[in-house]
Amino acid sequence: MQPFHIAIDGPAGSGKSSISKELAVKLNCIHIDTGAMYRAVTAIALRNQTPLDDVNSYQFLESSKFVYKKESIYVNDENLTEVIRDKTISQHVSLVSSIKYVRETLVKVQQDIAKDYDVVMDGRDIGSVVLPHAQVKIFLTAQIEERAKRRIHEMGLDIPLRQMIEDIQTRDFKDSTRAISPLTKASDAIIIDTTYLTKKEVIELIMTEINKRK
Ligand code: CDP
Repeated sequence: MQPFHIAIDGPAGSGKSSISKELAVKLNCIHIDTGAMYRAVTAIALRNQTPLDDVNSYQFLESSKFVYKKESIYVNDENLTEVIRDKTISQHVSLVSSIKYVRETLVKVQQDIAKDYDVVMDGRDIGSVVLPHAQVKIFLTAQIEERAKRRIHEMGLDIPLRQMIEDIQTRDFKDSTRAISPLTKASDAIIIDTTYLTKKEVIELIMTEINKRK
């Protein structure tokens, strides 16, 4: 039987990862947070102290094995789950994820994982590039202020709302305007604005779409 694929895309702080995680538990399938992979590559490149805008800095990808399991990201068995949430990573990840070689490598890793399994995969280009034939495609969004508030809350940060709004806007701008696979809504994706919805309500809406196609 063909695996069942659910693609969840959307901008920073739109709730993709937490919604996808719960959805995967409900459906008893794998959740893959592709953003964690781009963050892991950024963490390694920063640690290597090589120029982030030089493709040669990413040679290490040739011998890197990515595993995303139980909401944790491992590269060659090193657990990078905590490290990748650092502010420095958020500041540099958009540059790293705009590099063609990095994208090609990670898209292949993501497609290989999904090949034989039912998955809920979240990111920026899942419905458009990674899983263009996904049975369900969702584009989650929310007003910028709400997204910034959620991000401050989930990270337990003590920073002004205005600053978080600016950080998120900067990243959204870079992600949406890059040349390769920019953040975009696939033409057949369903938009869900989560600004005034609870997590439970969002999951119910997505479940309705899943049940229509199962
Ligand atoms: O902070 P948030 O959870 O919204 O972002 P993330 O999902 O952790 O993704 C971090 C960054 O990785 C994004 O800002 C993009 O630059 C990049 N990314 C991407 O280019 N393509 C994906 N499929 C997923 C993430």
